[in-house]
Amino acid sequence: MDNTKIAITGANSAVGKALLTQLAAENDLHAVAGVRRREALATLPKSPRITPAVISYEDPDSLGASLTDMDCVVHLAGILFESKSTTYQSANVDTTQALTEAAVAAGANHIVFISSLGADPSSPNGYFRSKGEAERVVADSGLAATVIRTPLLLGPDTAGGRALVRTASQPSVKVLGGGAHVLRPLDIDDLCRAILGCCRRPATGATVHDLVGPTPLTYRELLEQTATLLGHDLSVGATPVWLAKLGAALAGLFRTGGMTSAVIDVITSAEAVDRNADGDLGISLTPLPDTLAKLVPGEGDTTT
Ligand SMILES: NC(=O)c1ccc[n+]([C@@H]2O[C@H](COP(=O)([O-])OP(=O)(O)OC[C@H]3O[C@@H](n4cnc5c(N)ncnc54)[C@H](OP(=O)(O)O)[C@@H]3O)[C@@H](O)[C@H]2O)c1
Repeated sequence: MDNTKIAITGANSAVGKALLTQLAAENDLHAVAGVRRREALATLPKSPRITPAVISYEDPDSLGASLTDMDCVVHLAGILFESKSTTYQSANVDTTQALTEAAVAAGANHIVFISSLGADPSSPNGYFRSKGEAERVVADSGLAATVIRTPLLLGPDTAGGRALVRTASQPSVKVLGGGAHVLRPLDIDDLCRAILGCCRRPATGATVHDLVGPTPLTYRELLEQTATLLGHDLSVGATPVWLAKLGAALAGLFRTGGMTSAVIDVITSAEAVDRNADGDLGISLTPLPDTLAKLVPGEGDTTT
């Protein structure tokens, strides 16, 4: 395609900003960058290739206006942490339903949806269930649908990347289960390359890809490698998962959302895949040490 037009929801998310930064450096892409709050417009990368827009999932006309003439819609809006104002149903499922309906009405061809490893509409876990339900909405929409299921995303602006550096910066920490769970962290820039590749290629039907990073390792090992980059040793102890869940249940008596038992299960679940989609999606994965170097101030310029 000569000039591919892409509409992005949740454009002010960590993935959205990294995606827009990559897109602005290409010469064949243009994006409408959708955010739901006017204040969020100021946080978006600036480029003649990016048209910022305020969208409302409750207002089909505003959604439809941002989707007119688009080759591809990239749906990034979504949450892991519920709050008083946002639930898995509203952020993960209802936004997807409203968006797909508006995309069909606007004549869009293709939707790319960023989901999560573990997504399953019959999961007892509310987060995994909502991502699974959203996948089903996307697959049943009538649009060509590409679902990319992702693990922990690492980038200077992702919640996981910031938590990793903050935790590894201390001399001694206690983490859930001693950090024994195995992760496959993915560089956010690799995900963005995969998304842009999907937007450029013609698509039919519905496909689901599991895209993970190149190196399986425990969270404890990830913390230790990050601490080494920061120039110090780290002592890692354990907070028992059952104790953390008890604390979350007690805290849940006084507030909505935050660190719940469902979130604890998500962040401690093993990130295993039968087949990595990097080849199918046409990208090469960034080696983990290069990804970590981008998170640590003063180290990012050592990567190529
Ligand atoms: N980060 C990860 O490790 C990871 C892992 C697996 C999957 N994912 C998925 O990848 C996508 C991007 O993740 P991210 O970490 O870049 O996101 P993020 O930085 O946490 O940003 C979340 C985005 O969702 C929007 N949002 C939140 N509640 C909403 C609601 N009720 N209605 C509409 N929009 C709402 C936010 O808009 P406001 O700023 O207006 O609230 C923001 O644009 C998400 O769908 C996420 O579930 C991420």
